[in-house]
Amino acid sequence: MKVAPSLLSCDFSKMGEEVARIDKAGADLIHLDVMDGHFVPNLTIGPGIISAVRPYTKLPFDVHLMIDDPLSYIDAFADAGADIITFHIEASSDPEETIRKIRSRGVSPGLVIKPKTPAEAVFPYLDQIDMVLIMTVEPGFGGQSFMEDMMPKAAAVSSEIRKRGLSVQLEADGGINAKTIGKTSGTGIDIVVSGTGVFKAEDPAEAIRYLQSF
Ligand code: DX5
Ligand code: ZN
Repeated sequence: MKVAPSLLSCDFSKMGEEVARIDKAGADLIHLDVMDGHFVPNLTIGPGIISAVRPYTKLPFDVHLMIDDPLSYIDAFADAGADIITFHIEASSDPEETIRKIRSRGVSPGLVIKPKTPAEAVFPYLDQIDMVLIMTVEPGFGGQSFMEDMMPKAAAVSSEIRKRGLSVQLEADGGINAKTIGKTSGTGIDIVVSGTGVFKAEDPAEAIRYLQSF
């Protein structure tokens, strides 16, 4: 299992150092949560902060857009140093165009689905994307409880990916920590996002290693 710590739970007053610290602790990717106060009822960071912390690590930046009209902001996040950009299918009026735009910038495109959105919503786009992100909480806040009932959905996406012989990565996000990681077993999930589970752990390196062992 690869682990993408979410900076949403880091100390915002020293984000650059937090990125370097979590890199040293063994993270595989850095997950950055972008919220606009419209698509989700919370506000976080934008391209300015992302480009400011970019020099603190060489790890891939996994940018999770929880914003309306993602297409209009792809250039800004590509310029800021995103390696992967995932956007919500529920927020996009033209997923195909948004995917094409992300790829045209040399960035890996991915689609995210909220808990109430079925697995089948991403099927028409699977051959165009590099990642599917399954939300295991309602997007908007860190520290929520893991929704175990999303695991059949993850397994359904995973089996469709395998059936078609694609190399799309499957990521899960929300409420994943040492207590809940076991529930992802057998679902085909390749990457887990963990915010509080890593940053609030007594020993983040140990927390990352434990999650990676699944
Ligand atoms: C929620 C975000 C998550 C969140 C995960 O909207 O997309 O990435 O930060 O945090 P934890 O691991 O605390 O649920
Ligand atoms: Zn996220």
